[in-house]
Amino acid sequence: MTFRIQKNSRERVAELRRLLNDFNYQYYVLDAPTVPDAEYDHLFRELQGLEEKHPELRAPDSPTQRVGGQPAREFAPVRHRVPMQSLNNCFSEEELHEFDRRVREGLRRERITYVAEPKLDGLAVALIYEDGVLTRGATRGDGETGEDITENLRTLRAIPLRLREDCPPKWIDVRGEVYMSRAGFEALNRAQEKAGGKPFVNPRNAAAGGLRQLDPTVTAQRPLSFCAYAIAGSEGWRSPVAHTGILEQLRRWGFPVSAYAEAVEGIVGCLAYYRKTAERRVTLPFEIDGIVYKLNDLSGREELGSVARAPRWAIAHKFPAEEALTVLEAVEFQVGRTGILTPVARLNPVFVGGANVSSATLHNMDEIERKDVRIGDTIVVRRAGDVIPEVVRVVVERRPKTARQVVLPEKCPVCGGTVVREEGEVAARCTAGLTCRAQLRGALLHFASRRAMDIEGLGDKLVRQLLDLKRVNSPADLFKLELKTLAELERMGEKSAANVIAAIEKSKTTTLARFIYALGIPNIGETTSAQLALHFGELDVLIAATESDAKTVEDPELKDKDRFPKLRKVQDVGPEVAASLCRFFTEPRNREVLQELQRCGVHWPKAESRKKDGPLAGKSFVLTGTLPGMTREEVARLIESQGGIISSSVSSKTDYVLAGTDAGSKLAKAEKLGVVVIDLMGLKKMMGVE
Ligand code: IVH
Repeated sequence: MTFRIQKNSRERVAELRRLLNDFNYQYYVLDAPTVPDAEYDHLFRELQGLEEKHPELRAPDSPTQRVGGQPAREFAPVRHRVPMQSLNNCFSEEELHEFDRRVREGLRRERITYVAEPKLDGLAVALIYEDGVLTRGATRGDGETGEDITENLRTLRAIPLRLREDCPPKWIDVRGEVYMSRAGFEALNRAQEKAGGKPFVNPRNAAAGGLRQLDPTVTAQRPLSFCAYAIAGSEGWRSPVAHTGILEQLRRWGFPVSAYAEAVEGIVGCLAYYRKTAERRVTLPFEIDGIVYKLNDLSGREELGSVARAPRWAIAHKFPAEEALTVLEAVEFQVGRTGILTPVARLNPVFVGGANVSSATLHNMDEIERKDVRIGDTIVVRRAGDVIPEVVRVVVERRPKTARQVVLPEKCPVCGGTVVREEGEVAARCTAGLTCRAQLRGALLHFASRRAMDIEGLGDKLVRQLLDLKRVNSPADLFKLELKTLAELERMGEKSAANVIAAIEKSKTTTLARFIYALGIPNIGETTSAQLALHFGELDVLIAATESDAKTVEDPELKDKDRFPKLRKVQDVGPEVAASLCRFFTEPRNREVLQELQRCGVHWPKAESRKKDGPLAGKSFVLTGTLPGMTREEVARLIESQGGIISSSVSSKTDYVLAGTDAGSKLAKAEKLGVVVIDLMGLKKMMGVE
């Protein structure tokens, strides 16, 4: 008796699984549902009941087993056996012609058959089937290594857990796109709002968020769809010879493939398809951002191969970025890490390119002037995919009388420091680099770096904490830090705190060259810092020179070559470097920090002036590459101590290029100009030390 029930159950379980799989197939692949949802649910519950009663009948590829397992703590990395490539883009007919020409020339064929498919705006995934069973699903990642999201992908009813095939391939890697339909997206957002949650901006973000859930039960509740478009690799299977054959095979195996894929002849066919699809784009049940054309003939694909992670045999023809009209309400200035001020348009929010846009970049003041953008203007904004929205142009006819010019602020909006925009320069910058909160993190890291003040242990994490807790507001504050303050920070014990304090203490004894370099003045590298230290000998003398030279900037009588007379006497200092020095040293906030640093005990030995004699007297050297066992500064000081001169670029006036390992363009230039190239041994020989 028991046996009979079991046999019936076994048969019924098999029958239910077959029915449910067929319904899924009809719904997702054939797009022709044959039963109402209620009937599906009814049979599904019957199957669940039977599997519960007869655990021995359970199977991982049963339709009931889509959601299972424990939430993951993280996604494991998966190396793709066949890399997941990306596609080259084109935005115009000309570019498409170029692509087609390259394909025809590459294959020496006149006529090419392409397959055109809509480019779905979702996420690429790789699905591995072993002996017909889904064993792994992964994201693209960087193309070489993705993340294992098998448990999440199993919850998508459009993805078959088993191929509909009696003799499946031993191994196969199916590629396709996970996306969310417009209807699914709207339903999800309605539910989200009802539950008091924040709505998703667009289907792509909602799909990405759904796949990135660590708990597959959450993914299961997101209306995610799937569309297969390629087989990237296989074992134990004979591939069709054309892409159309692949799509048919995928469909037979139970994968949804695009109902819109079409074989087209040549570029004429491509363009006709593009126009047709662009027209019906808004009526499609899902969002697309372009068309993909792929060579249909698979052997031709092999012949063409790939370049830089993208195949030569396919291209994405993108739709133009969406544009919309809105009003420019204000312009704010953001200060970047390097002190550059970027104007940002504050807009009356508008929905464009799949997202609400309330701000857009205006790049720089030149751009504002060129486009003649004024506050109050009606403007055209553009947004494509995930790129930053931009202001395309002004609708001048709609300019109100009250429209106002955009003015560059004189003071930095973050710190109140002086803002300068040099004649002929595009960028405007805040010059208070040492105290401006926007720039402070970078400034401190540079200040502490090995070739600057060389404070060991003062790394990114520590600097971030010190800034967040407002313990440090300028480099000078580093020298006021107490052991107690440091020891209380995250991941800092007494011992490491004491080490950092000791390193800070030790850094107080430095050289003028290092100190100048540590200030992080734009355009002032190690070599220039060393030149300045050597030339001026003392910080005060350098500052005095910048003060008197700064005056020459304002004098309209002067020719360019007569500006910055004192600074330009220094080897290698041109007008840009001189201007940068003047800007930095005339900013009162920076000067305060310099004084404060010296008050805190930062000091350097009094300068020795350059030796006029010595074995290297009057000879000029350029250093390049890594020099074994010595820092550049040490080598430079060695050369200078013997009367030599260091300069930063190679010219016909250079006497010697001292090349270490990995020397680059300077070495090449020396060889071109016939400048003598020596190594460290050669230098030592010249000095008579070895
Ligand atoms: S074929 C070798 N076909 O576009 C390249 N990709 O920019 C294989 N995409 O990562 C991709 N729809 O996420 C292909 N019908 C389609 C596509 C498609 C969307 C995505 C895919 C890929 C990206 C490349």
